[in-house]
Amino acid sequence: MKTDMFNIKGLEGKKTLKGEIEVGGAKNAALKMMAASLLFSDKLTLKNVPEIEDIQRIADLLSDMGVSVEKMGKNTYDIFVKNSVNTVLSPEIAKKIRSSVVVTGPLLAREGRVVFPHPGGCVIGARPIDFFLQSFEKMGATVYTKENEYVIEAKNGKLVGTTLFLPAPSVTVTETIMMASVLAQGTTVIKNAALEPEIAYMAEYLNMCGAKISGAGTPTITIKGGGLLRSKKKAYVTMSDRIEAGSFLILAALTAKDITVTKCDPIHLEAVTDVLSRCGVDIEIGKRTLRIKHNPKKKNVYRAVNIKTHEYPGFPTDLQAPMAVFLTQVKGESMVHETIFEGRLAYAESLEGMGADITPMDPHRMLVKGPTSLHARNLVSPDLRAGLAFVLAAIVAKGESVVHDIYNIDRGYEFVEKRLQKIGVDIQRVSKEV
Ligand code: EPU
Repeated sequence: MKTDMFNIKGLEGKKTLKGEIEVGGAKNAALKMMAASLLFSDKLTLKNVPEIEDIQRIADLLSDMGVSVEKMGKNTYDIFVKNSVNTVLSPEIAKKIRSSVVVTGPLLAREGRVVFPHPGGCVIGARPIDFFLQSFEKMGATVYTKENEYVIEAKNGKLVGTTLFLPAPSVTVTETIMMASVLAQGTTVIKNAALEPEIAYMAEYLNMCGAKISGAGTPTITIKGGGLLRSKKKAYVTMSDRIEAGSFLILAALTAKDITVTKCDPIHLEAVTDVLSRCGVDIEIGKRTLRIKHNPKKKNVYRAVNIKTHEYPGFPTDLQAPMAVFLTQVKGESMVHETIFEGRLAYAESLEGMGADITPMDPHRMLVKGPTSLHARNLVSPDLRAGLAFVLAAIVAKGESVVHDIYNIDRGYEFVEKRLQKIGVDIQRVSKEV
């Protein structure tokens, strides 16, 4: 079996990177739109879909169900649900990807039944699915487990609209129930819904195709159920990936002589630009660009800042690890408080191994003291976002680091090394037989 790793030569803290770095389509939007194909009676065309592992996995999952998923060229897919589909999700595929659970909503609403295993995905905490199951039950479905799989059946084959209050504003639960409600009988109201921009973007597109969703992007979403949607000729163009943009912006804050992050939506990154500005980073915010330029005349000593992750529009949990790398390079003590997932600080030990001064306080908080010079190390990518954080740390560090298990990074960032090379990073992908 082949495994890939990155060899990265560090910049030893020097600010030498320059050029433009382009942001791709959002993983967490495209994945859900692929699931949404189950709401359509005709072919759905998706554009600006990132070429990443997670997209391949969901494409495999849908194909296994009998859905036609055709790649029409770079970043473009045609998806067509011909007749009825297999309602049993392949456990092998579903266990590898968290967003397999998102397929259950539209599938249950369309076919009246779904069988699936507990979903996989990044190991960043317990990641239960109780909110999904409870919501389906409230919409009139029966839920039971059989041989380690969940079996969900809608009464008389149809989900029934109702009012749901989510115990927490979960992103995937909001999306799954919103999709399911499009084909349910009657009206569904989702209260305490997640506010992430991908949700409003999806609702806007579904509405263009015949759905009746209002309030997406606010805590109360109302969906009037109806029949299958028709995509007509409109293609869904995946919105820009705000987490990828934020990752590149943090890299720029660490290393830029002059870097512009392009094809991004700065409006979705206000929590991040605000935190960086409070540290003293000068960011030029354009309509679709973010630029950081090093001013050699100005003593660029950035200040410490406390960060606390929060649902959108707060500081995103997916940028907590990259931001912690930045905080190792600023003057003073910063508290990093992860509030969404309980297992998302485990990477800190590896940063300490590179010379970072980090004191764990409890499972949710750690104190980062800076600035510290980091030195190269062999690193193992534990999950997608921490893996990217290790790439950032290796770029800043002294010496040559190796980042192993980069399939975790490939799950979310399309050929990230090619884009990093373009702005001057010495990073190589090496394949090894194991
Ligand atoms: N939760 C429950 N029960 C549920 C569902 C969620 O207790 O049934 C809890 C979670 O354990 C967590 C909280 O609710 O403590 C919020 O999690 P949420 O459900 O919002 O997360 P998610 O939908 O599983 C999505 C993204 C994550 C991102 C989070 C938070 C996808 C496929 N995943 O996960 O993305 O971190 O929202 O913004 O959209 C990533 O891209 O690397 C990633 C992990």
